[in-house]
Amino acid sequence: MSTRTSQNRSPEDAPRVTTRTLQDMKASGINIAMLTAYDYTSARILDAAGVDVILVGDSASNVMAGHETTLPITLDQMVYHAQCVVRGVHRALVVVDLPFGSYQGNTKEALSSAVRVMKESGAHAVKVEGGRSIVPTVERILEAGIPVMGHLGLTPQSIYRFGSYQVRARDEVEAEELREDAVRLEQAGVFGIVLEKIPADLAADVTASISVPTIGIGAGGQCDGQVLVTHDALGLTTDFNPRFVRRYAQLDQQIGEHVQQYIADVRSGDFPSPDESY
Ligand code: KIV
Repeated sequence: MSTRTSQNRSPEDAPRVTTRTLQDMKASGINIAMLTAYDYTSARILDAAGVDVILVGDSASNVMAGHETTLPITLDQMVYHAQCVVRGVHRALVVVDLPFGSYQGNTKEALSSAVRVMKESGAHAVKVEGGRSIVPTVERILEAGIPVMGHLGLTPQSIYRFGSYQVRARDEVEAEELREDAVRLEQAGVFGIVLEKIPADLAADVTASISVPTIGIGAGGQCDGQVLVTHDALGLTTDFNPRFVRRYAQLDQQIGEHVQQYIADVRSGDFPSPDESY
């Protein structure tokens, strides 16, 4: 019989975070920590650090591939990123964005995209952007037993319709629409909703009015959890500075300095030393 206690548990046997765990966290008032990852090594680090949810975001289109928007990334590419992440995760819930064009056409297409992600990557859930218009899609994916997360407010896949990355739902008409969308998504069965770049008071209202957790990004401190793009939080991206990003490190500088040191060591012949040679 195992004698391990919770104190000496390794990440391999820590209890998995499930959609139920997130629901319980909301009920207990424990804030949910979510971050993005797109590769095995980062996913391992975030998981071992104890992040609750890892989002394989279509922001990979920006931070991994260098595109201006999230629109170009393909389903094949999202499946690849999700496979890499899943291999590095033992505890966190892994949620994968369905990319632009893989679910908007009709519910059958949406279901087959979601099934591909789940079957080929081993991820635990998918995320889709949109309000009431996405409800039949959410229902169809859920009927297949796949957990779905919603995403309201600034939905980057619709950037060309919005025309800018400004804060959404500042006026009462759009705010009311968003409140109703959140309720409809909840009724459709989503296990959580990302609220992106909306006024903090509105996010607080929505959070209080639905039973599933809200995860904010630029949506104030009253959401049930927070998400950031890891590359932004760690200062790997330098060209994206919205006020909602808190930079926990300036890794671009640190990496640059270490790389300069490596170059200097190679130039001077200091690397490799006899100890680093066979
Ligand atoms: O793609 C992404 O990283 C996201 C987050 C910004 C929520 O959707």
